[in-house]
Amino acid sequence: MSSAALLNELRLTQELVMALLEPLQDDSYRRQYHPDLSPLGWHLGHCTYTECYWLQEIVLGDDRFTAPVADIYIAGMTPKPERGARLPPIDVLIQWTLGMQSLNAETLDTAPAALVEHPLMRDDYLLHFLIQHYSQHYENMLAVLTQRALALATPDFQASQPITSRPTRQDRVCVQPGHYRVGGTAPVACDNELPAQQATLGPFEIARNPVSNSEYLAFMEDGGYANAAHWSDTGWQWQQQYKAGSPEHWRLDDAGNWYGIGVRGAYALDGSDALHGISQHEAAAFARWAGGRLPHEHQWEVACRLQFLEQTGRVWEWCHNPFYPYAGFKAFPYKEYSQPWFDDHHYSLRGGSLHTRPAVKRASFRNFHTPEKRHIFAGLRLAW
Ligand code: AVJ
Ligand code: FE
Repeated sequence: MSSAALLNELRLTQELVMALLEPLQDDSYRRQYHPDLSPLGWHLGHCTYTECYWLQEIVLGDDRFTAPVADIYIAGMTPKPERGARLPPIDVLIQWTLGMQSLNAETLDTAPAALVEHPLMRDDYLLHFLIQHYSQHYENMLAVLTQRALALATPDFQASQPITSRPTRQDRVCVQPGHYRVGGTAPVACDNELPAQQATLGPFEIARNPVSNSEYLAFMEDGGYANAAHWSDTGWQWQQQYKAGSPEHWRLDDAGNWYGIGVRGAYALDGSDALHGISQHEAAAFARWAGGRLPHEHQWEVACRLQFLEQTGRVWEWCHNPFYPYAGFKAFPYKEYSQPWFDDHHYSLRGGSLHTRPAVKRASFRNFHTPEKRHIFAGLRLAW
């Protein structure tokens, strides 16, 4: 993509994020709807701060815009539950954001020598980074809005054409053993996708499609949530404590039929749509029940590159391996993007959800979360 196209993409992504904030009242702007999710307003402030930090403070050496708000908007400095109370009034944040975004756009447009010569600007790396940063927070904000919708009762909703269960499709592709290239390429790749490398894979099979709502319902109707035999030890411990009985984004109507809760509230589930709203524990239990397993993230990536996979980018797909650094990993542009999460508690997810922007959807992109997370629009694809 040309620099002009990237600047345009950045502006578009900024507008999408902003459009989520504009209709909000002060309360829903500040409120923390989920223990793992920051308030909506914080996401915007953090994105604006991040843009100013890299462009003005790091590249141009000017911290006038960032120093006064750093302690609010640096993730490590204010715990999530305290972020809402520390936000300025919504109008103030919106005006600050619009002002900073136009200042930054002007800086990028006039391209002073100090900017052009900075290593972070080579091949438009920083533009790629900022677009992807906004995109990831955009998806987080849609997760917040989904949690907001889940907090509201929907007593009158009737699933008009209720989904019914169906057996797991056996439509799978066979991947030959061999050495395959995995990983990303600069300037688009995140630090955890590099350096690209060779993965040696044994033979495996992988499903053409992610698990659908109807297929998952069959697991539920078969008592999958109540049968320890399908679950790993840690998964069963989680289930005993959490007592999950359905995907987080599903709800039962008065007639006992399932429907979905999305950003805009209740909607009719489609049985053939990719399932989301499950933890890795549930994904692994489903896989064992269905006679398969979760893929290793490199199996997913190789099958994706071979164009064997359908419906990628509909749900994040849980993989079975922990998130780990590739040999030769170097943290950039800052240590906290990936490095702290190589902790054996985070697992890799691949593909992207219906709320993921195109800038983040690629074969090599690695998402990562702890296995109990259910708010992230994640489902699974079987491997054997
Ligand atoms: C990689 C999606 C888990 O949203 O917390 C955003 C991405 N890192 N700002 C997240 C991220 C810093 C991150 N995920
Ligand atoms: Fe961030």
